[in-house]
This record gives sequence, structure tokens and C-alpha cells, in this order.
Amino acid sequence: NKGNYEHYMQKEIHEQPESLKTTMSGRLIRGGSCKAKTVLLGGLKDHFKTIRRSRRIVFIGCGTSYNAALAARPILEELSGVPVTMEIASDLLDRQGPIYREDTAVFVSQSGETADTLHALEYALENGALCVGITNTVGSAIARHTHCGVHINAGAEIGVASTKAYTSQIVVMAMLALAIGGDAISSQTRREAIIDGLFDLPNKVREVLKLDQEMKDLAKLLIAEQSLLVFGRGYNYATALEGALKVKEVALMHSEGMLAGEMKHGPLALVDENLTIIVIATRDSCFSKQQSVIQQLHARKGRLIVMCSKGDAVSACPGGFGRVIEVPQVEDCLQPVINIVPLQLLAYHLTVLRGYNVDQPRNLAKSVTTQ
Ligand code: UD1
Ligand code: BG6
Repeated sequence: NKGNYEHYMQKEIHEQPESLKTTMSGRLIRGGSCKAKTVLLGGLKDHFKTIRRSRRIVFIGCGTSYNAALAARPILEELSGVPVTMEIASDLLDRQGPIYREDTAVFVSQSGETADTLHALEYALENGALCVGITNTVGSAIARHTHCGVHINAGAEIGVASTKAYTSQIVVMAMLALAIGGDAISSQTRREAIIDGLFDLPNKVREVLKLDQEMKDLAKLLIAEQSLLVFGRGYNYATALEGALKVKEVALMHSEGMLAGEMKHGPLALVDENLTIIVIATRDSCFSKQQSVIQQLHARKGRLIVMCSKGDAVSACPGGFGRVIEVPQVEDCLQPVINIVPLQLLAYHLTVLRGYNVDQPRNLAKSVTTQ
């Protein structure tokens, strides 16, 4: 049921304040004056000891689910102290890459049925790793075959392009980082700030959804582009990959997400007055590096669209060159949840304006059950 919406993708983008609330429901404990703020993940409570002792945590997934894990990687590294590596499921299988008994392998999948991810799970089980699932579908193959896991509880997702599952996956993995981090005194203030940020996140997503009309206007300007690059780094490298994936899969426009730190090692050669580039430059420890990336892209006459924190337009885009998308600022590790929303809206409007099928893009399937 699409309710008042024209498409499932549109509905699923707009219901993110509610889906995020359901994802966190019963899992975040604010605590009274003497009780610490904590996270409860029922499905993992008997396994945290093993996870903390593992030699590394390896995230495995495809498409949007891989991108969600990439968005959560920095906070997991920071709070767990365990090395975190990333594997695209098909690539792990192609290489028969090393998976050990001492590893915790985390399988991220909205459907829980993706063939590549499922085969990678079988491979990791054979190699003796602790296998953890992060899935949206109760009773799915990945939920059943993992040793333990967390359901993201985002509600059924119908649009082929994943939107609300992405933000719920990131939130579950941020909660996973908090839970693995345990009660270490050294990171207590940081953990409490993240928990406060999680409580407030649905409101902040509601706020960023107000950019809908602005993104529709931007889509009108970009309707005939040949190509759209998205530059991000740090917490928002994943935002660049996921924003570009949305544009390419539904709007059928060539789009690539790029690590801004690699700009000088190739991508800069593409930049001239005909190239449109979205740069993610919200406030975090990478901000000054992104300011310099923006300057260099501007010097080569790239057509810039800069995503920055509210009130930061002048610092991010001095001289008023380029177009600015201002978004609410949240705790740095949660910022990817906010930053993807305008890009989801942009991809949606581009698709409608270009006259393509929003919910079932040509050649793609919601759940890819063959390899
Ligand atoms: C569970 C109940 C929820 C109830 C809550 C009350 C289910 C599906 N969930 O939620 O209805 O309100 O207790 O305390 O009945 N699992 C995997 N792999 C996965 C995902 C999950 O093995 O990919 C396992 C978990 O380890 C756990 C079970 O499935 O044993 C349920 O997981 P989850 O729904 O996340 O647990 P709770 O949040 O505790
Ligand atoms: C397909 C979907 O390619 O599978 C994507 O079209 C999705 O939206 C990918 O990200 C992975 O799916 P899942 O269900 O394993 O998260």
C-alpha cells in the first residue's frame, strides 16, 4: 500500500523517521540519574565476549548493504578496538579470500536471500568464523543460517532501490559498535553523545526531508546531465558511493562515488566546466581537507554542488560559487544517515522527471537469488 505516495521508493524515503524509530525501539536505554545509557541487542547478548576477542571483524555484503557497512566501519573501529575489514561478497568468493576461526564475519542483507552473500556465509561457516547476520527479513536464509544477529526491523521494503533499509542498517551497526565497546570508561562521553544522537535522529531526518522541493528543483537542473560524480571521505565515503548508486540504478544516469582523498590520483583529469560534482563537506574531522578539495575542483571550473552543515555555506563554499545543500548537523558517525536523504530525494526526482520506472528499474531485481 503506497498510501498518499505515488511510488514505493518515495514512501520509503519519507517514512525513515518512523522506520528508524522502530529499528531502535527497545534497544536504547536512556537510564536514570545513576544508570548509564546503554544499548541492548537481544540477539547478540550471548556472543559479545567472542566478538570482542576476535582477531578482526569482517563485513560482507552487496550493493547498498555493503555501503551501509562501509558507513559504520569508522565507528566500529573506534569503539571496538578490533580491526574491521570490508568484503563485497562476490569478490570474497572469487578470491576465496582468507576467513579464519578467530574472525567475526558480519553478513549485511536487507532481503536475507542474496545469493552472493548467502554463498559467502556458507564459505565463512565452513572456515569456522562466528557468523553474525544483520537482516531485515525474519526467517530469511541469512537470518536462519547465521549463528546470531540483529533484525533491523525497518518494515517491508518494496522499491528495488534500497532507502529506509540503508539508514536502519547504519543505525544497527552504530548500536553494534556501542554494544561491543561495552562500558570502557575512556569512551563513555563519546558513547553517551552517540546514544543521545540516536534518540534525536528521527527528528533530524524529519528536518532533512524538508529539502524535498529543493531536491526536485535541483533534479530539474540536472535532468540532461551525462554524468554526475559524488566526492566524499571519512564517515561519508559511503554516502558518496550510495548516493551515486541511487542515481545510477533508478535515474539511469552515469554516476560514480569517489573517495575525495583519491581526487589527485586520477579523477581530477575529468574535471572541466561541463562536469557536475557533488561534494559532501559536512562538519567533521575531514572538513578542512574537503574545503581544499572544493577549492581545487573550483579552480578547474567543475560545476559544484556542496553538501554542508546548516549555517556553514560560507566556509564550505567561499565566494558563493556553486550550489549549496545545507543539512542538519548530528554526531559525526551518524551524519551518513542524514546526508544520504537529499541524495535519495534527488535520485527519486531525477527518475520521475526522466520518465523512468522508479520502483522497478530495468534489468534489476529487489533480491538477486542467482550468482
Ligand atoms: C526479539 C524478538 C522480538 C521481541 C524481542 C523482545 C523475533 C524475530 N524478535 O527481538 O519480536 O519483541 O525479542 O525481547 O522474534 N538472528 C540471527 N541472524 C540474523 C538476525 C537475527 O541469527 O540475521 C537471531 C538473533 O540472534 C536472535 C533472533 O534471531 O536470536 C532474533 O533477533 P532480533 O529480532 O534482532 O532479536 P531481539 O531484538 O531481541
Ligand atoms: C540488489 C538490490 O542488487 O541487491 C540492491 O537491487 C541491494 O538494492 C542488493 O542493495 C543487496 O541486497 P540485500 O537484500 O542483500 O541487501
